[in-house]
Amino acid sequence: MDEIKAMLRLVFRTSNELTIPLSGPGSVGMETCLVNLLEPGDTAVVCVNGAFGARMVEICRRCGANTIVVAHSWGQTIDIDRVERALRENASACLLAFVHAETSTGARSDAQALCHLAAKHGALSVMDAVTSLGGIPVDVDFWAADAVYSGTQKCLSCPPGISPITLNKRAIERIQKRTTKVQSWFMDLGLVMSYWGDQAGRTYHHTAPVNALYGLHEALLLVLEEGLESRHARHAIMGEALCRGLAVLGLQRYVEAQFALPQLITVTVPRDLDEAQIRQALLRRYHIEIGGGLGELSGRVWRIGLMGETAQPSSVRALLGALGQSLEEPGGDKNTQRAIAAAEEVMGQIQKGSVTANS
Ligand SMILES: Cc1ncc(COP(=O)(O)O)c(C=O)c1O
Repeated sequence: MDEIKAMLRLVFRTSNELTIPLSGPGSVGMETCLVNLLEPGDTAVVCVNGAFGARMVEICRRCGANTIVVAHSWGQTIDIDRVERALRENASACLLAFVHAETSTGARSDAQALCHLAAKHGALSVMDAVTSLGGIPVDVDFWAADAVYSGTQKCLSCPPGISPITLNKRAIERIQKRTTKVQSWFMDLGLVMSYWGDQAGRTYHHTAPVNALYGLHEALLLVLEEGLESRHARHAIMGEALCRGLAVLGLQRYVEAQFALPQLITVTVPRDLDEAQIRQALLRRYHIEIGGGLGELSGRVWRIGLMGETAQPSSVRALLGALGQSLEEPGGDKNTQRAIAAAEEVMGQIQKGSVTANS
């Protein structure tokens, strides 16, 4: 247990004592942060630019918080100026919540700027790092992020069911000053810490999923063995390589390149294609599963995950080959070969640099 906590601190880049793996998927991390930091009547500002921001709104409302929503079109990065205006207009806001890497759209937001804004306006920042941790930089202490949660099944490449979280002193003080009990017994961090804390010994709170924790221990070892910088560079290169190849096949990113995640690539589906049929063919014929669009992007995009162990040249080649074959005229493979060659050019950086990947 202590080794997992120590490794999580390295991966979150924090010295926060309260850095632990919660028993439950990423949604448990989300809900734990919000139910512990909000009391009925508090004001929370929540940024929504996709499905998971919307879920945060729902939880804040269930906490009885006066919830101010800064809504964006799906696929946009969070607009810092609009968030600042919302914090200025709602001076009593005690919490700013946002998703760093929106898995429903593939958009990345400026987490450092958002954490800075929260601190400037006297609010705690709650950051969703479910899809970002292990794939792109997450710098909890440097960004002064107050409460951050993640999941194991994305870029940490671990079975699902655990949610790593980290809270700093400001966040813990807020919890200690609560005047009402946390409405969830299971997610009450005061109780959970009796099991995961260092000082108080180990008091039973609930039966921990030990098999999953062994899995997380191994996954964290692999992340640290590779090194965070190398891992981020690998994700960046694989994402770019895939996009270059997709462009040759006539498929464009949905999100503006500067805000696009490398580990979750959203592609605009050409109007004349039956997107569901192609996804099914990829799965049936090639055993490759890509995601369809969610919510307002349903039927309009594909969502391609290149996370953790799957962010490898072999995955990029396999998908470009399969997609190319599915899109080309029967018997033709000219575009497919060109697409793979375009990706190989980018992936060549892996061999030249210090970044490692399994071919
Ligand atoms: C950004 C984001 N937040 C929260 C969640 C919820 O995590 P889980 O499905 O593990 O409960 C997800 C899941 O995909 C996610 O992508």
